[in-house]
Amino acid sequence: MALVGSGSAVPSTRLSNEALSTRVDTSDDWIRSRTGIGARRIAGPHEGLTQLASEAAQACLDQAGWRADQVDLIVLATSSPDDLFGTAPRIQAALGASNAVAFDLTAACSGFLFALITAGQYLAGGTMQRALVIGADQLSRWVDWDDRRTCVLFGDGAGAVAVEACPAEHTGLLAFRMRSDGSRNACLTLAQTHTHTPLLEGVTAQRGGFAPIQMNGQEVYKFAVREVPAVLADLLDTTGISADQLDWLLLHQANQRILDAVADRFAVPHGRVLSNLAHYGNTSAATIPLMLDEAVRDGRVQPGHLLASSGFGAGLSWGGALLRWRGPGGRGC
Ligand code: ACO
Repeated sequence: MALVGSGSAVPSTRLSNEALSTRVDTSDDWIRSRTGIGARRIAGPHEGLTQLASEAAQACLDQAGWRADQVDLIVLATSSPDDLFGTAPRIQAALGASNAVAFDLTAACSGFLFALITAGQYLAGGTMQRALVIGADQLSRWVDWDDRRTCVLFGDGAGAVAVEACPAEHTGLLAFRMRSDGSRNACLTLAQTHTHTPLLEGVTAQRGGFAPIQMNGQEVYKFAVREVPAVLADLLDTTGISADQLDWLLLHQANQRILDAVADRFAVPHGRVLSNLAHYGNTSAATIPLMLDEAVRDGRVQPGHLLASSGFGAGLSWGGALLRWRGPGGRGC
C-alpha cells in the first residue's frame, strides 16, 4: 500500500497546564518536566468524535485528491466512540463515502497502527483499492478530572491517512509487528462498570457504564521503554535497514521522556523525533496520524521519507511499522 494523504482535526478549546493547575493540585513545571505536555484540546458539549474524525478524514481526502465515493474501506481506531455499536458508519455517512464499508477497531493507543496494518492487508489482498484509516479519541470524557495522575496526560483529537493499493515493490508498509499481553491488562483500563437491576424473581440484569481511566503510570512507562525499542530493533534487523537511514521516528505521543529514551537507544538525534506533545498531550489513537499530518503539512516529512513508527498502550498492546511516505500525486504505484 502507498500512503498518499493525511488530515487532522482538534477541538477549538485549549486547556493549558496553568489553567488545569487551578483545578487540580499540579503545576506547569511538574507536567512539562515529567511529560513534555504543555496543553491539550478538549471537545466541548457540541463536539463529538464523529465530527472531529469526519473533519480529519475530509482534509485527508482533499489532500489525496480523492472523491469520497472512491473510498472502499474506512477503519476508525478509537476507544471512545460516539456509539458502542460503531462510529465509523456515521463518518462514512458524513463524508458521503457511499461505496465504502466502515467499521471501528479498538486497541487504545496502538489502535491507529493496528488499523493501518489491517487496511494494508485488504489492499495487499487485492479486494480493495483505497482506504481511509482514522485514529480519533476523546478521552477527556473518560478521565477523572480530580485524579492528577491521569487527567494531565490526555487530550482529544483526530487524524487520518489515505492509503491505496500498490505493487509490493513500491509498498509504503515495509514491515510491521503487532503484539498484545492481556496478562498486564490491569496496568491501564477504561473498564465497564455494572449495577444490578432486578428484573424478575431470580433474574437480575446489569446496567452498564464505564469507570474513568485507571493507570499504573510507572508500569506503563517501564513497559514502553522496554517494548518499543525491542519491536523497532526487530523491524530494523528483519529489513536490514539501519537507524541512521531513518528520516523520522513517528511514535505514539505519550511522554517526551519515552520519545527521548527510544531515540537514544537508536542514536537518532532528537531533532528527528516528531513531537507535538507540548500542544496536544496524549490523544490516544489519534497521536500518530495527528503528528504525521502536522509534519506533512509543514514540510518536514517529504515524499520518499522513511519513518519508524510505534504505538503502545492499554491492552497492553504495542506494535511497530517501517513506513515510506509517498504523498499525493507521487509516482510508483
Ligand atoms: N502533578 C503533581 N504531582 C503529581 C502529579 C501531577 N499531575 N501526578 C503525580 N504526582 C505526584 C505523585 O503523587 C507522586 O507523589 P508522591 O511521591 O508524594 O507520592 C509523585 O508525583 C511521583 O509520581 P509518579 O507516578 O511516580 O510519577 P512518574 O515520574 O512515574 O510520572 C507519569 C508519572 C508521567 C504518568 C509517567 O509514569 C508516565 O508517563 N507513564 C507512562 C504513561 C503512558 O505512556 N501511557 C501511554 C499509554 S496511554 C493509553 O494507552 C490510553
